[in-house]
Amino acid sequence: MTKPLQPTRWALALAAAFAVQFTLPAAAQSAPQPQSQSQDPAQARAAKLVSQMTLDEKISLVFGYFGTEFQGKQPPKEALVQSAGYVKGIERLGITAQWLTDAGIGVASQPGKKVRERTSLPAGIATAATWNPELAFKGAAMIGKEARLSGFNVMLGGSVNLAREPRNGRNFEYTGEDPLLAGVMAGAQIAGVQSNHVVSTLKHFAYNDQETGRNQVNVKIADPAGRMSDLLAFQVAIERGNPGSVMCSYNRVNGPYACEHDHLLNKVLKGDWGFKGYVMSDWGATHSTIPAALSGLDQQSGYPFDKSPYFDGALKEAVQNGHVPESRLDDMARRILWALGAHGALDHPVKDESQKIDYTAHGKISQLDAEEGIVLLKNDGGVLPLAGNVKRIAIIGGHANKGVLSGGGSAQVYPRGGLAVPNEGPKQWPGPMAYLPDSPMQALAKRTKAVLSWNDGKDLAAAAKAAAAADVVLVFATQWTSEGNDVPSLALPNKQDALIEAVARANRKTVVVLQTGGPVTMPWLPNVAGVVEAWYPGSNGGEAIARVLSGEVDASGRLPQTFPASEAQLPRPKLDGIDLPKDSRFDVDYNIEGAAVGYKWFDLKGHKPLFAFGHGLSYTSFSHANLKAEPAEGAIRVSFSTTNTGRRDGKAVPQVYVARAGWEAPKRLGGWDKVPLKAGESRTSTVLVDPRTLAVFDGASGKWKIAAGDYQVILATAADAPVATVTVRLAAREFAAGGR
Ligand code: BGC
Repeated sequence: MTKPLQPTRWALALAAAFAVQFTLPAAAQSAPQPQSQSQDPAQARAAKLVSQMTLDEKISLVFGYFGTEFQGKQPPKEALVQSAGYVKGIERLGITAQWLTDAGIGVASQPGKKVRERTSLPAGIATAATWNPELAFKGAAMIGKEARLSGFNVMLGGSVNLAREPRNGRNFEYTGEDPLLAGVMAGAQIAGVQSNHVVSTLKHFAYNDQETGRNQVNVKIADPAGRMSDLLAFQVAIERGNPGSVMCSYNRVNGPYACEHDHLLNKVLKGDWGFKGYVMSDWGATHSTIPAALSGLDQQSGYPFDKSPYFDGALKEAVQNGHVPESRLDDMARRILWALGAHGALDHPVKDESQKIDYTAHGKISQLDAEEGIVLLKNDGGVLPLAGNVKRIAIIGGHANKGVLSGGGSAQVYPRGGLAVPNEGPKQWPGPMAYLPDSPMQALAKRTKAVLSWNDGKDLAAAAKAAAAADVVLVFATQWTSEGNDVPSLALPNKQDALIEAVARANRKTVVVLQTGGPVTMPWLPNVAGVVEAWYPGSNGGEAIARVLSGEVDASGRLPQTFPASEAQLPRPKLDGIDLPKDSRFDVDYNIEGAAVGYKWFDLKGHKPLFAFGHGLSYTSFSHANLKAEPAEGAIRVSFSTTNTGRRDGKAVPQVYVARAGWEAPKRLGGWDKVPLKAGESRTSTVLVDPRTLAVFDGASGKWKIAAGDYQVILATAADAPVATVTVRLAAREFAAGGR
């Protein structure tokens, strides 16, 4: 029996953190208070250190520098080359400096001459598509290790902004559109990073769901809707991962900037959820001294990105003048020291030991993640896995002869051996458009007797000719997305739709392999035999793609995000702010859909997506039986069996949705399992539904409320593919905003 929501390895590692989290109702209810020191040695140690610090030392702890030259300004010489950040240490007290690196998929570098070359996981969205928190933990533990061996002790990921806006250029960094799935997967990643005595930073808090106008946009959303959507994803990630740090975001929320937001930082994060770590600003997201300090920001990051060194001399003066109580500065310092102490960074100094990194082993971990995250969207006539008797395969486009695509911006991890395709994409940040040197074509060549032909896809007639001469065609279609820009539409760029149409006309046995940061539209879908979503598959992405195409492993990824049929189906058919002059301020109204994000919106409106949330085919077949559900632990315990009814080994992802009239949408994901099954094998799964997915957040009382009555429990293989339904009667129950 497997329990994906309590995966044994990382759950055990986190048992202590969970216990503390859930036995602190007082801290979870009231205004932010330092936790009782007797309960937590890291708190006592932090408080003692703060009591020994001078005012200047405390100020130095709450003020962070960018680690790279910026507009002619040099970083402190102690900063690591082309890194994200640096905060001074206090040698006299044995307090380490903080060396900060991006981010969620590996040790990133700012662009420049001295990039560090490291292992890259697949994109966050790909890891989410595994629906396998244990794998998310393993991958993150690997990149956390590389961070430590590279001399960093703070990592600027996991990243859990909900894919509320499918055109968001950073969705590739995040973990999808459902708050429970996103939170569980990001929480596992945080725990993985921190298993190396490296502090992990959950970001970007909150509602930073589009890049267009990210510094100017004001997000309008009612608090209860936010608690049941974007904020729930953060809450779950914090419970699961216990991050030392949370990064507040660029945007404003119902007026104030997120980094000077009393409600979000003091009330929700530190008060209701009892977060004990520190809030750092995104790079350039601090806008004031006194309001920011009093509203809950604990560390200004990335100076000189901000207009002013607000938390340096100005904060010192504000403390001296009494505008910011010294106790608040103490609280900031204590939170930072708690995070460094509780997660081992104080006791485990870092230095550059990068020669110890085992890139081969790390590449294999990345590969496992990529393989399980690849989603088989369509497979007509069993075109995949590629049959042994296929004689000629035409491979077209996407630089598949050279490498695999990655997403751009601060999360960019530079590959060993340099970029596979030089000089692609923008010359300046968020460029380059980095192809990692692991060619799917070369990886496939090792696995097939078929003759492979290569065509770059630039000339449609030549591509169609190559397709006509083959038994099977693989078109590699790419969509580069990056920080700083949203995609203007969901269409594939650079006339790739026309390429696929032309190729599919020449040969119906065409399989499209997508490397995208999120959903794309597919006008050619009826004309192709197969579609595979490989996302940005990381360092060993070519191997991973080849193993799935050849059937060495099952296709076991499932969509963590709805693929819309068109932009017209979205809550905002047009992206807000896209037409405005640079630096214009504008609102984006998330009250349109409220908590009905992604598939919930599609259900509510009766829209038929191109591919539903949770969808993904396998090379084998599964059946499900014995669905049972009963009230348990203040929620619902669900059990069912899954049988592999096919001839190949595979992995099923049975999903449990819960439904009740009167919610923001007809149904919500309440839990799931990832079940590896040999051919013919059966297993029983037990899933404990997260009680918040049965509740409504009541703004007036500030509590979650489960109403008395009947709840439908739906076992499904995707949001649009129910298998069986049972009804459970629950008694009324309410619990605190920070509880479950
Ligand atoms: C991004 C953050 C990143 C930071 C440091 C910002 O532009 O929004 O995600 O961690 O830069 O590189």
